[in-house]
Amino acid sequence: MYIPENKISEILNACDIVDVISESVILKKSGKNYFGLCPFHSEKTPSFSVSPQKQIFHCFGCGAGGNVFSFLMKHHGISFPEAVKMAARRCSIEIKDVSMSPGAKKRLETREGLFRLNRRVMEFYSECLQKSSHASGARKYLENRGINSEIQDQFCLGYAMDRWDSLVNFFRSIKLGRNLAAASGLVLKKKQGNGYYDRFRQRIIFPIIDVNMQVAGFGGRVMDDSMPKYLNSPETPVYSKSRILYGLHLSKQHCRRENSVFIVEGYFDFLSLYQNGVKNTVASLGTALTSEHVRLLKGYASKMILVFDSDNAGINAAKRSITTFVKHGIDVRILVLPKGDDPDSFIRKYGKEEFKKAADKSMSIMNFLSNTAIKKYGLSIEGRINILDEMKFHLAGVEDSAARSLYVRELSEILGIDEKAVLEKVRHAVEKKGSRLPFQPTETQDKTSDPAMKMGKQPESDRREMQILSLMLQYSEIRAEIKSRSILDFFYSDRLKKIGKLMESIQCPEETFIVNVMSGAENDEDRKLIASLAMTEIPYTHRLMEKSFALMDRIVKVRNRTEKFLANKIRQAEQNGNFDLPLELLEKRQREIRKMHGYE
Ligand code: UTP
Ligand code: MN
Repeated sequence: MYIPENKISEILNACDIVDVISESVILKKSGKNYFGLCPFHSEKTPSFSVSPQKQIFHCFGCGAGGNVFSFLMKHHGISFPEAVKMAARRCSIEIKDVSMSPGAKKRLETREGLFRLNRRVMEFYSECLQKSSHASGARKYLENRGINSEIQDQFCLGYAMDRWDSLVNFFRSIKLGRNLAAASGLVLKKKQGNGYYDRFRQRIIFPIIDVNMQVAGFGGRVMDDSMPKYLNSPETPVYSKSRILYGLHLSKQHCRRENSVFIVEGYFDFLSLYQNGVKNTVASLGTALTSEHVRLLKGYASKMILVFDSDNAGINAAKRSITTFVKHGIDVRILVLPKGDDPDSFIRKYGKEEFKKAADKSMSIMNFLSNTAIKKYGLSIEGRINILDEMKFHLAGVEDSAARSLYVRELSEILGIDEKAVLEKVRHAVEKKGSRLPFQPTETQDKTSDPAMKMGKQPESDRREMQILSLMLQYSEIRAEIKSRSILDFFYSDRLKKIGKLMESIQCPEETFIVNVMSGAENDEDRKLIASLAMTEIPYTHRLMEKSFALMDRIVKVRNRTEKFLANKIRQAEQNGNFDLPLELLEKRQREIRKMHGYE
């Protein structure tokens, strides 16, 4: 996998990391850096920082970090070459002939091919809706449902005709390869005989577009009572229902502006709200919200409101999604609409203002959960105990202890049960679950494997060596000094030594030094570490220089002392005829040291 070095630096120079990240994370400037809520782990106070000078990001909470490419890779779940291409596209730099591993190349080609194909299919279906004489029923249907033509255009709605081969023929006419056709999931292999048939027939088509404006997949609704009412694209290399939210590509700017987002279930719920002026909305397409969804949304709004029908299915769907929000430390609010209404019918009947009024009365998680439990168990003494028993597990799932104690207080007020008693129950439930909560995001678990996060607990030598690397990253003078004194050769940690050597090997203008080091890193773990070392601000002072040279001397001294100790041990062992000591190993070590000092 190889992309020419000069291309990479060209892209890095042209592409501002703050611009890129602020598209998906709300960033605020504070001092030299920008801060926001980390998109890679759950947190309430911002520990995710972006440095415009250094062009890197680093999360002090979970240790995630890197340059603009690492961010794109992690955020979109894509490979390095894809990230480079994505960044290049942003700043209109062309990369040709990117040679990479055959597997990666193939995956990239498939993804790009599918995006291109989906766009053509979207145009095909929407032209059909607008022009075909067979689509008059579909146009009438949309009119009856109150979706105006402006919204139909904006969201590129379409129509799939009542035929088994309309897309099959279209694919044939554009000479589409069989592999891509099959991978799209839009045509299916016939059970008998050869050939394919259309997945979507006689349905209104909703293209599902991602936040990068790429057409990821489609949904289709029948126009009568036949089943299934809705059909969606299957999971493909570009469509994953757990990662995508309908409408966000256009609503994201409104979510940003309002700093809030309404989450509804259906296509029509979304389109109705949007058309009637509630534009800060997304649709989850009937699936429970996943962590990916919540992470995505966190980049656009900090207030989230789940909007549900008051039927049992709606309540249950809300309950399933709540856990995900709680895990991410989002205090989501729940808006349960009056019986018989969904967001679509509600806003069409009562309008935007009434919807906003209802939204103001949305419930907190605790209120919502306890309300539904009260409906189930009643408020008798026995009922309240049952409620508490059910609620304690929800509460035990709240990771953030401050948030948990707020919830406990709220619940104790709702139920009229002493706060201490509630707390006691919750504690038991937490213990049952084990101290590590099951849904802790994996990123926070990275903490233990990231040496930078363990700085305090590391052996003294590692801590010192990391300080040196920090200085090297930030000051070329120190780099020169380190090199001339061969300090790195005295490093105990092979990993830190390797990173230091990488720094010594890089020749480039100082402004791009850090990003170049990062690009040269062997793996993501190393990139993370480099980002965290680079983010440790060390102001340049004369005293600092003195201190760091003292630090280097110490490293050399300690190392020499250890070597002396080793040599002594060897001599002693020889004198005493004690062959239990791993002599060979010790001697080998000693030879290395001699070599290092130029004796051999
Ligand atoms: P609903 O059944 O609540 O329908 O499904 P709706 O959105 O109110 O649809 P209309 O108003 O009757 O047209 C909510 C969402 O769940 C997904 C769809 O995304 C739908 O918009 N769904 C529903 C499916 O994927 N498949 C189905 O069979 C039904
Ligand atoms: Mn509906």
